[in-house]
Amino acid sequence: MEVPRELLSSLEGEVISGLPIFCLERWQSLHETAAKINLSESGVYPLTLEELADYGVSIKDVLKLELGYGWTKGSPELREAISKLYGSSVDPDNIVVTAGSAEANLLVVLSVASSGDIVLVDSPNYMQVSGLLKLVGARVMYLEREPPKWNFPLQRALELLGRLKPKAVFVTDPNNPTGSYMTKREIEELALEAERRGVTLVFDEVYWGTERGEPKVSIAQISTSESFISVSGLSKTYGLPGLRIGWLATGSRSLANRAWSIKDYVSIAPSALSDRISSKILQPDVVSKLRSRARRIVSKNLEILNSLLPGSELIDPHLNPAGAYVWTRIPWTTDTLRLSYNVYRDSGILVAPGECFNTEGYMRISAGLKSEIFRIGFTKLLETLKDLKNSFSL
Ligand SMILES: Cc1ncc(COP(=O)(O)O)c(C=O)c1O
Repeated sequence: MEVPRELLSSLEGEVISGLPIFCLERWQSLHETAAKINLSESGVYPLTLEELADYGVSIKDVLKLELGYGWTKGSPELREAISKLYGSSVDPDNIVVTAGSAEANLLVVLSVASSGDIVLVDSPNYMQVSGLLKLVGARVMYLEREPPKWNFPLQRALELLGRLKPKAVFVTDPNNPTGSYMTKREIEELALEAERRGVTLVFDEVYWGTERGEPKVSIAQISTSESFISVSGLSKTYGLPGLRIGWLATGSRSLANRAWSIKDYVSIAPSALSDRISSKILQPDVVSKLRSRARRIVSKNLEILNSLLPGSELIDPHLNPAGAYVWTRIPWTTDTLRLSYNVYRDSGILVAPGECFNTEGYMRISAGLKSEIFRIGFTKLLETLKDLKNSFSL
C-alpha cells in the first residue's frame, strides 16, 4: 500500500519558510502513542523515579523543594556534576543546562551560525541541527559517512576545513543512526586542524557512555582551543528523557553567555525539580551504574537479534558499536518509508525509516527495550517483513 498523501505531506516539505519538517520527530509523534511495540526509539527504556533508589539516588528531600524558577543556567551543583563528567575540563560557568539536548542544539545553532555561513554537518544524522542551520540561512554541506563501517569521514573533513574555511563542524558522536564513533586519535586530529583554521567544533554527545568497545573521549577533554561545544543530556544513555535535562558545555565563556541569553527567549530555566534530581543522578558512581545498565540492555537485545537472524536475508544490519539502536540496510528495497508505513499498518510495530535520516534503503531499529518486549517486537518485525517482501521490488 502507498503511503497516504496526507501522511507524506506531514513528513516532507517545510514547517515554515526555510525550516524543513523534522521527518523523524513527526513520524514518531504521529505514530508512537498508538504503536503496539515502539522499535523507533533511540535510548534505553526509561526508569521510574522509584527505581532510581536502586542506583543510590534518594529523592526524599525533593518533597521539600521550593518549585520556583531556580537557576536559569542550571544550579551550581548540577553544573559542577556535569563538569566532572568531562574530567573537570569545562568550567561549570561555561555550562548551560537546557530542556533536553534538543534545546541545547537550538541554542548552539543560534549562537554559532548565521546567514551565509558555510557549515559542515555529519550525515546520516539526527536531522535537528541541519534543519535549524537551514532556518538561519547557513550553507549546509554534508560530510557523508559510508557503509559498511559508517565511520566519520575524517580525511574529507580535514580537506574541507582547509578548502572551505567553514564556520563550524557539527558531528554526532556516537552517531545517530549508525552508532559509529570517533577514536581519541581522530578527534585529536580534527581538533588540531579546527584550531589551526579557527573553526568551531560542535559535538552532539548524547549517546556517550553506550560504547561497547573502547570508551569514547569527549571533544571537551581533547580540544586545546576554547572553540568547542559538547551537547549532551540524560535522555538516551541514562534512560531519563522525561526529566528533559540536557546541556551544552563549551570552552568559550562568551559562547556560553550568548546561548544563556538566547535561552531567556526559549525556556528561561530548566525545571527546578529535574535540576535537583539530575544533580544526584550525575554523581560519578550513579553515572557509571546507569551507563552499565544501558550497555547491558543493548547487549542483551543484540544477542536476541543475532539469535533470530541466521538464515534471514530480510535485513542486513550494521553492528552499531554504540547507541541503543541498530542501523540496518533492507537489501530488497530502497523505499523504506513505504515499507515502514506498511510494517506499522500491518503489525503495529513502529521502526524509524532511513528516509528520515536522509538515507533511503535503511531502517533504524531500537535495541533499548526490555528484552522480552524486544524479542516479541523483533520477531514480529521479521515476520511482517517476510510477508511484505513480495510486494516490494528493487
Ligand atoms: C543526536 C540527538 N541529539 C539530540 C536529541 C534530542 O534528545 P533530548 O532532547 O531528549 O535530549 C536526540 C534525540 O533523539 C538525538 O538523537
